[in-house]
Amino acid sequence: MVDFTKLKRQFDLYAPEYEEALLRAARSGWYILGGELQAFEEQFAAYLGVEHVVGVNSGMDALTLAVRALGIGPGDEVIVPANTYIASVLGITENGATPVLVEPDDYFCPNADAIEAAITPRTKAILPVHLYGQPCDMERICAIAERNGLFVIEDCAQSHGAAQKGRKTGTFSTVACFSFYPTKPLGAQGDAGALATNDPALAEKLRKLRNYGSGKKYVNELVGVNSRLDEYQAAVLQVGLRHLEEGNAYRQRIAERYLNEIRNPLVELPKTRNHCSHVFHVFAVQCAKRDALQAFLLERGVKTLCHYPIPPHLQECYAYLGHKKGDFPISERMAEQELSLPIYVGMPMEEVTQVIEAVNAFPGD
Ligand SMILES: Cc1ncc(COP(=O)(O)O)c(C=O)c1O
Repeated sequence: MVDFTKLKRQFDLYAPEYEEALLRAARSGWYILGGELQAFEEQFAAYLGVEHVVGVNSGMDALTLAVRALGIGPGDEVIVPANTYIASVLGITENGATPVLVEPDDYFCPNADAIEAAITPRTKAILPVHLYGQPCDMERICAIAERNGLFVIEDCAQSHGAAQKGRKTGTFSTVACFSFYPTKPLGAQGDAGALATNDPALAEKLRKLRNYGSGKKYVNELVGVNSRLDEYQAAVLQVGLRHLEEGNAYRQRIAERYLNEIRNPLVELPKTRNHCSHVFHVFAVQCAKRDALQAFLLERGVKTLCHYPIPPHLQECYAYLGHKKGDFPISERMAEQELSLPIYVGMPMEEVTQVIEAVNAFPGD
């Protein structure tokens, strides 16, 4: 059986390093807001090339706090892709702001023309998502934001290390949000996330917001939350960060094999934008007979997933936004046709071969 992902294989590759890091954190006797978090925040900031990184509990919290820290709330609009994971949208609605959805381009990223067309006097920010590990066209999106006086909040939950013209995702925006959910390119061994920014005042505000709105013990300036990346996860993430480039390169090798060796006219392969490096958190193919393809692959022992089967605007929780089927046909088609093939660090190349052979054997009838 070819699993969709197997985290144990990644753990086994670096087991002595993970075990050393976890014991170090345990033995320190300091478990929240300590030296491990400070070390990770500094290392990740240096890796990205930003001034400040603020660790939080999850990618979802990073998005919620980014929107809150920028003072965006009821009556404000934030432009966000219609084909994203729901957390990108929840970060906006958690603050009482209104998500304005836009369709994707050929790279599954928000279409820059659609972003421009969606701007109204109430728009406060653009929230591009580097979906599946490929950078959005940040040069264009940042130019649109600048012309219109808007903040940019990057959702980098899937794109650790991906770059446009050598500049990493997470460095283009006012503030960038990362998830370190275990399967992500940089994954923890539990929930974890972070924000990245070059703005010292914003970083300071985020540090307070994650800690009950407090900069000084028992003095609360802001209405904050408890969202602190713990010392165990910070220790684990330092190991992951040391191997991030290696892991991205490994998934890129798998992607190259899929791109070169999958030859089935019924299966559309993903495209990479010029001057962009794609870290292939997800290898997303499209097929008009997606469900049949998924069942066929499973019969041949290959597990796959769909990212994502129901777009946010058709989710029950967002019925109040008033959208209906047909409002975002490109995103809706993606939800019906997208299939994610297995691609992860530690995946044996023989299993990659099995996936390729199974996809190529799909007859489509
Ligand atoms: C695009 C995107 N945004 C946000 C999130 C939320 O991250 P987390 O699971 O750490 O809350 C995820 C992943 O789960 C994601 O894929």
